[in-house]
Amino acid sequence: MKLSVSLLNAEDKNKTTKKINNTEIDYFHIDVMDGKFVSQLSFPLKEIQEISNVSKKPLDIHLMVEDPSLIIEDLKELSNINNITIHIEIDKDINKMLSKIKECGVKRGLAIKPNTDINLLKPYLDNIDIILIMTVEPGYGGQPFIESSVERIKKIKELIEDYNILLEVDGGINDKTIKKISLSDIAVVGSYITTSDNMEERINNLLV
Ligand code: DX5
Ligand code: ZN
Repeated sequence: MKLSVSLLNAEDKNKTTKKINNTEIDYFHIDVMDGKFVSQLSFPLKEIQEISNVSKKPLDIHLMVEDPSLIIEDLKELSNINNITIHIEIDKDINKMLSKIKECGVKRGLAIKPNTDINLLKPYLDNIDIILIMTVEPGYGGQPFIESSVERIKKIKELIEDYNILLEVDGGINDKTIKKISLSDIAVVGSYITTSDNMEERINNLLV
């Protein structure tokens, strides 16, 4: 399982990025929030550019925004993006957004909130590379893992059986809950790592 470190709750994002650069993590997870899809605001473009410059790992971009089109355009100029993930719940033409992401030459992700019907993913399975399963309500880092997600992950895994799609799990992952998401390919981990004085030890706890 790969690890993607969410910088949302990191006090000094650049400093944290630099510290984690030399560990065995795979990606930095950037939570972009627009104050509409979720009530918070996070990661203005300037901050994403700064992290991109400092980061030695590819970026995993999670767009919790009602209209991803402009930000996707802006992200085109960054050279180290692995994937851009949009939410299935937004009131926009999802296929059009996925094509825009493809034009950037990066992987296309579709995120789903904890209470959204998983069958809504079906029409998009041919056009996505990653499904990001939210295991907390989007908006804040540091929330507890929603236990019913375990069953949901299993069902989504069955749904994508015949497809070449990676499963990413986001929210409330720590050294205990990571054992419950063994079916996933990528675990997003935020506060468990970034609020610790010994981030390397926390990362090692997750790798075992
Ligand atoms: C929540 C974000 C998550 C969050 C993960 O809206 O999408 O990426 O920052 O942080 P932890 O691991 O603290 O739940
Ligand atoms: Zn996220």
